[in-house]
Amino acid sequence: MNVDDLEELADKHREEYAAVKTEIRVCTAASCQSSGALPVLEALTTGCDASDHAGCCVKQVGCMGLCSAGPLVAIAAKDAPLDQAQIYRDVAATDAPEILTSAKTGTPMERLHCPTEMPFFARQQRIVLENSGIVDPNSFKGYVALGGYHAMVHALTEMTPAEVIAEVTTSGLRGRGGGGYPTGLKWSTVAKMPATQKYVICNADEGDPGAFMDRAILESDPHRVLEGMAMAAYAIGANKGFVYIRAEYPLAVERLKTAIRKAKRAGFIGHHICETEFNFDIEIRLGAGAFVCGEETALMASIEGGRGQPRPRPPYPAESGLWGHPTLINNVETYANIAPIVREGGDWFAGIGTERSKGTKVFALAGAICNTGLIEVPMGTPLRDIIEAIGGGIPGGKAFKAVQTGGPSGGCIPEAHLDIPVDYDSLKTLGTIMGSGGMIVMDETSSMVEVARFFMEFCMSESCGKCIPCRAGTAQMHGLLDRIVKGEAGRQDLALLEELCEVVQATSLCGLGQTAPNPVLSTLRYFRAEYEQRLLEQAA
Ligand SMILES: Cc1cc2nc3c(=O)[nH]c(=O)nc-3n(C[C@H](O)[C@H](O)[C@H](O)COP(=O)(O)O)c2cc1C
Ligand code: SF4
Ligand code: FES
Repeated sequence: MNVDDLEELADKHREEYAAVKTEIRVCTAASCQSSGALPVLEALTTGCDASDHAGCCVKQVGCMGLCSAGPLVAIAAKDAPLDQAQIYRDVAATDAPEILTSAKTGTPMERLHCPTEMPFFARQQRIVLENSGIVDPNSFKGYVALGGYHAMVHALTEMTPAEVIAEVTTSGLRGRGGGGYPTGLKWSTVAKMPATQKYVICNADEGDPGAFMDRAILESDPHRVLEGMAMAAYAIGANKGFVYIRAEYPLAVERLKTAIRKAKRAGFIGHHICETEFNFDIEIRLGAGAFVCGEETALMASIEGGRGQPRPRPPYPAESGLWGHPTLINNVETYANIAPIVREGGDWFAGIGTERSKGTKVFALAGAICNTGLIEVPMGTPLRDIIEAIGGGIPGGKAFKAVQTGGPSGGCIPEAHLDIPVDYDSLKTLGTIMGSGGMIVMDETSSMVEVARFFMEFCMSESCGKCIPCRAGTAQMHGLLDRIVKGEAGRQDLALLEELCEVVQATSLCGLGQTAPNPVLSTLRYFRAEYEQRLLEQAA
């Protein structure tokens, strides 16, 4: 298959649906499903089939972003982008007749109208999410009709592996799993390893509390991730890939399985892909939900059938990974960026974002914020824009207090720093990290000591126990925080807590322990008075 054959496949799909002028898209990603999207889908499908709605079709799609207003339904011209759609919010099955009439007549329905001119939609730049909420995640042909697999076919038939790596390097893409390691450099390291057996892994473990970017990408556009993995495998010389995903994401797993099956049937995964010498197979491995299994060495141990515990690095996975073979491990969002980079060129991607953080970033907005959901913005977007404009600010007229980024490895940013542009480096200067993209917003009613205790409790229960500083240190720090919260601690306890933070940070084996003190350190940095107020002598 070459690019022309692919175009022919896309044309066939367009012909099949030539009669469809208007799509009624129902978001059936997990969040909308939990607020009742499936009965809405059923009512719309039945209504559309039962009466005369010529030119309309009901289609299930993935996340449109504004999950807090779900279930969302969009009426749009065939394959039109989200900002050209008429979106309806908080839809119930009983609204189906009115929505169908609106689709048929083209007259918008005011009652459930969700304006796409609102900053939530207008201020985003969708690259990773360009198909989310538009493509049917279970439709292989639908993905192809939107330009899917074009980048892969182009790479396999017209580019050398070195050229693919060069494009990724030029793009400046950095790993979206949290560490921000340059993706091109990682790929070229694995490519250079002289081995006949290499692997690629997609890390879809996503254990940070409040994070759901990877889940939503896989539920909304799974072929995009497979396409990225296949190009990575071609570039580094691997013939086998694994997607490591937690079993708590059943919908993402189901859609991924369907996507793999359909891509295999179409010959896009398997032997002699696109009539080349390139063979590539993908398997899913389910994780049991341990946060530490997202750490790359623990993840590989888990795939190998062992206990999910980290091991010291070096050797890095690039040299000695799965079963001792060179292995490339990247995050879901990292792979989802590859197709547009190959399609539009590395220079195009490098033109978006900041000096050292290129492209866009997907964030999951959660907590005390009006528009909870999934957003994608260029790197360098000020935090204030994200929270106030896109996120719609704090509900209930309450004041903003802090935003937590980077999950248990990150920290809290107060109001005074909200104008900071969000990228890998600037957030580090504030004592936090961008992490994988979870953003938890807190209002004036939140106690920052309790927030620190929450994250420490999380690290304590997720510590795998392999090394003493983390196993014993997180428990001790949690105990101290608990006593501070309850007003039972003195000044010496606070000093001990700070000392323990340093020790655990410096001596733990893996990133979990090394970063566990971060939420404590950052809340101490910006909200020290809250700790002091709770100390015994103050309370007395
Ligand atoms: C405790 C811990 C948990 C992690 N969890 C994840 C995760 O859920 N997803 C992920 O992509 N990376 C996670 N990472 C980072 C991975 O070890 C690895 O760096 C990443 O998958 C590399 O992909 P990238 O270069 O595309 O970011 C975690 C790291 C640590 C220390
Ligand atoms: S730092 Fe914690 S999670 Fe990491 S190996 Fe040590 S005990 Fe396990
Ligand atoms: S899950 Fe439906 S809009 Fe996000």
